[in-house]
Amino acid sequence: MNLTDELKKTLRIRVDYTNMTDKYLGDKGYSAKQLDALQPTAQKAYSYVADNRGKDELFMGWTELPYNQDEIVKDILATAKSVREKFDTFVVLGIGGSALGPTMAFNALCHLHYNDLPKEKRKGPRFFVEDNVDPVRMKDLLDVIDVRTTCFNVISKSGATSETMTQYLIISDLLKKAGANLKDHLIFTTDAARGNLVKISNELGGVKSYILPDGVGGRFSQLCPVGLLPAAVLGLDIEALLAGAAYMDGLCKTGDFRKNPALLAATLQFAAMKDGKNIGVMMPYSDNLRYVSDWYAQLWAESLGKNVTLSGKACNAGQTPVKALGVTDQHSQVQLYTEGPFDKVVTFLSVDQYKTPFPIPKGCENIPDVGFLGGHTMEELIQAENKATAFALTKAGRLNYTISLPEVNEFTLGQLLYFFELQTAYTGAMLDVDTYNQPGVEAGKKATFALLGKNGYADQKKELDGAASDPKYVV
Ligand code: PA5
Repeated sequence: MNLTDELKKTLRIRVDYTNMTDKYLGDKGYSAKQLDALQPTAQKAYSYVADNRGKDELFMGWTELPYNQDEIVKDILATAKSVREKFDTFVVLGIGGSALGPTMAFNALCHLHYNDLPKEKRKGPRFFVEDNVDPVRMKDLLDVIDVRTTCFNVISKSGATSETMTQYLIISDLLKKAGANLKDHLIFTTDAARGNLVKISNELGGVKSYILPDGVGGRFSQLCPVGLLPAAVLGLDIEALLAGAAYMDGLCKTGDFRKNPALLAATLQFAAMKDGKNIGVMMPYSDNLRYVSDWYAQLWAESLGKNVTLSGKACNAGQTPVKALGVTDQHSQVQLYTEGPFDKVVTFLSVDQYKTPFPIPKGCENIPDVGFLGGHTMEELIQAENKATAFALTKAGRLNYTISLPEVNEFTLGQLLYFFELQTAYTGAMLDVDTYNQPGVEAGKKATFALLGKNGYADQKKELDGAASDPKYVV
């Protein structure tokens, strides 16, 4: 993209929080005075994030990713070109932070039926992200790909994640059986020095590898090779993605939350959480953006869901992210949002200009319920429904705000990702939790090791066996 300053301004995403205020929500919304009272908290969170930018030891290396990857980007672009030339399929093996970003960018920026398009209409190979260990899914994937013409990007910081490494074992076995040279079909994205993929790479004679930087945790890794390589293979403009992130960073350089979009969203969410709004609904009115909700759900849940504060006090912090899709969920969950418990904040993701407006042909003029639609466009309809749902929620006294993207492209997606990362970092600081650890996830990983008999987990295995389900409670 030729990103002139003018174009960047035109493509700036905006946050409209009118429907969080008492102006339209009455006593269910926040008054200017209540918001003013939050400014010191917002300023403190802003300063914490600003002061610790880029610190690997605090896992804040993600803040610098838009600025420190020139060489890596060049290398990724060269690798992506060669992948496109040599392979007809590209498969990401990874889970959690190693999979949600690539899925999101793929869905947001590529054709919604990309893999079904003929080769000449795609900018890259067919693309799959395998982020589960459901045996049916693995078998079904193998039914539609040929390992001999597939490149596998194994993404795992630790190289010890059971799901990813199970997939690796299956794929490497198949590659060997197919007589392929493993090294030619694999790309690793992993820790610089530690981690099992480094050992495996050495054993295989040096697999092409990218570094998941030390100070970047899985859920903050979309803007490093974890997300950049798959995006580049798809022919997406990764430089514009990073430029979007840098642009958003530039918009968030003040501790005045009314002038810093990510700090504004963090402050509103923090206020809502304090008022018992324990559910955060993310509702994009765009099929392209539907997996932003999945990516965001991990970022928000894993970062904020903590049982101890940084100062060591017990807490049960966090807000449950709920995924919804406009307009689909208007016919499913919106009834609850409008009339159910006052325990939610709804974030709408709106798009000003869709990739294609689609005209609705005139017809059925003698049936008023249908005839009025003809002559409009689908873009007008989806936008009207977005506005109407926000209006209905507001009328019902429900907190909601809207993030608008002028259009969905690499630059705006980069802005949106960095916006949510900053919002999460600020909110974590306000809640005084460790935004970057995930002891709850580690506990589950260890229990799986024990159940499958990994050395060193015998005691936990005994405990798990003792916790077996009691037939008395099974109906
Ligand atoms: O955000 C996180 O840290 C996790 O979701 C990890 O990304 C996930 O558990 C995968 O870990 P790894 O990259 O070590 O395979």
